[in-house]
Amino acid sequence: MARPPSIAVVTGASSGIGAAVSRRLAADGVTVVAVARRADRLRAMAAAHPRIVAHPADVTDPSALDALVERVGDEFGRCDVLINNAGVPGGAFSGPERIEGMRHTMRVNFDAAAHCTAVFHQLLAASAPSQVINVASVSGKLGIGPADYVASKFALVGLSEALSLSWAPEGIIVTQLNPGFIATEGFPQRQLLRSPFARLVGVPEDVADAVADVIARPRRERTVPRWYRPLITLRHVAPGVFWRVAARTPRARGTRDEP
Ligand SMILES: NC(=O)c1ccc[n+]([C@@H]2O[C@H](COP(=O)([O-])OP(=O)(O)OC[C@H]3O[C@@H](n4cnc5c(N)ncnc54)[C@H](OP(=O)(O)O)[C@@H]3O)[C@@H](O)[C@H]2O)c1
Repeated sequence: MARPPSIAVVTGASSGIGAAVSRRLAADGVTVVAVARRADRLRAMAAAHPRIVAHPADVTDPSALDALVERVGDEFGRCDVLINNAGVPGGAFSGPERIEGMRHTMRVNFDAAAHCTAVFHQLLAASAPSQVINVASVSGKLGIGPADYVASKFALVGLSEALSLSWAPEGIIVTQLNPGFIATEGFPQRQLLRSPFARLVGVPEDVADAVADVIARPRRERTVPRWYRPLITLRHVAPGVFWRVAARTPRARGTRDEP
């Protein structure tokens, strides 16, 4: 970005990555409109950080997203960075009983991010140079994990890639930000943390640092931590090798942590 952002909107700001990103941007001097359903959490964050503005909303409710962009436009007159981060972990894709769960995963992880991006388009264009940062996942690059979650993140990666081209002429940079294993409420990573690979699990502040980096040096794609990048490259240049290795990992079963 040519100048530091003044207004950012962060969805899924009540815990984990979204909370860490909101705190980090606020500490960097950005006014953050923090969006999630748990109003008490958002209000506690706003009380602790004067630059955080609580905006309780369910991102799957289209009228709530319309109200969000209206408020941001009316109160601040601009939006420099939209961070679509709200997300749910999905579950094992077992059969017909999973269909409603799959729809919910798609509604939160993809439909809501796409809808939010669409309703903010005009304000982002008027605020250009501006940014959309979509928090996708390494799962959306590697194809390993619960199938509905992987599908929702592939969709978000696809949206980000296409918009990164089509919105660039308007001065809106669209980034797919792909985190690996990060221990949070929704993604506790219990099995990994109990295993010899515990050191592979990061903290939400790692992603907040990556967001700050993408704001300072905008680009289309950012992986955090960066050591996943060779795996993503391997998937494309040697898919046979990649899938043989992938089939041996516990995540190949398409399940998440047991409690
Ligand atoms: N942790 C990881 O390992 C990891 C790895 C790759 C990608 N990611 C992605 O990172 C993002 C953040 O996840 P996290 O790990 O920080 O998990 P988290 O702590 O569970 O945070 C999820 C956030 O999404 C919000 N949310 C969920 N449904 C919502 C809805 N309908 N409306 C508004 N907000 C909603 C939650 O707030 P409320 O419940 O208060 O609404 C919460 O703030 C997700 O998109 C996730 O897919 C995480």
